[in-house]
Amino acid sequence: MHIKVKDLSFSYTQRLVLNKVTVDLKEGSFLALIGKNGTGKSTFIKCLLKIEPVPDNTIFYDGVDINTIKNFKNVGYVPQKLEFNYEFPITVNEILSSSYLKGKDLFYTSIINELNLNQIYRQNVNTLSGGQLQRVFIARSLLNHPRLLILDEPTVGIDKESMETLKNILSDLKKKGVTIIMSTHDTSFIKDLADYYLEFSELGDYNLIEATEV
Ligand SMILES: Nc1ncnc2c1ncn2[C@@H]1O[C@H](COP(=O)(O)OP(=O)(O)OP(=O)(O)O)[C@@H](O)[C@H]1O
Ligand SMILES: [Mg+2]
Repeated sequence: MHIKVKDLSFSYTQRLVLNKVTVDLKEGSFLALIGKNGTGKSTFIKCLLKIEPVPDNTIFYDGVDINTIKNFKNVGYVPQKLEFNYEFPITVNEILSSSYLKGKDLFYTSIINELNLNQIYRQNVNTLSGGQLQRVFIARSLLNHPRLLILDEPTVGIDKESMETLKNILSDLKKKGVTIIMSTHDTSFIKDLADYYLEFSELGDYNLIEATEV
């Protein structure tokens, strides 16, 4: 999916978090969001997903203003872990099958297998470890065949093996033309994936850097 962000500014109260951010991402690009805690990575993601309100004519999916889009088809999202309500009583099975209406077909089982979710499939999500829960969210984000995949610090808390799996999945999706936007503090994870780095700093400032310049 082609993603365009034009002069996006955002503040929660008085403090400016995003100051006129402009990015143009062609299909199949990987944008890494980096910067210290509290500099606006998650806020940028929430604007992209319309979780936070944005003015008209600032964010476009395939040329269409997101404010005119009713439901986001083919968009996968892995929220930052701390923001999920862990008390919600639902099993892994229920979370995943409710995101995938085609039943347990080959694609569905391949994702369950790839992310190693078989053993915890019937467990309640509030009994999962942090890394297990993170893997469930990654699986869910992949189920609707995303053309845009947005991940907010997906590597936090997952083990080395799952990290490798995730890296391979992202690399494959990128080759298939999926646009990926991912925030992280783990620069080694994104080193081979990122085409662009969007580095946020305090006071809403940002730097857009091409990976070839790093
Ligand atoms: N709902 C909110 N209401 C008010 N201020 C908020 C809200 N969410 C975030 N902020 C503030 O906006 C700024 C940016 O927060 P954001 O969550 O985007 O940072 P981040 O770069 O994702 O940080 P981290 O690396 O810790 O995840 C911070 O100063 C934060 O305190
Ligand atoms: Mg964040």
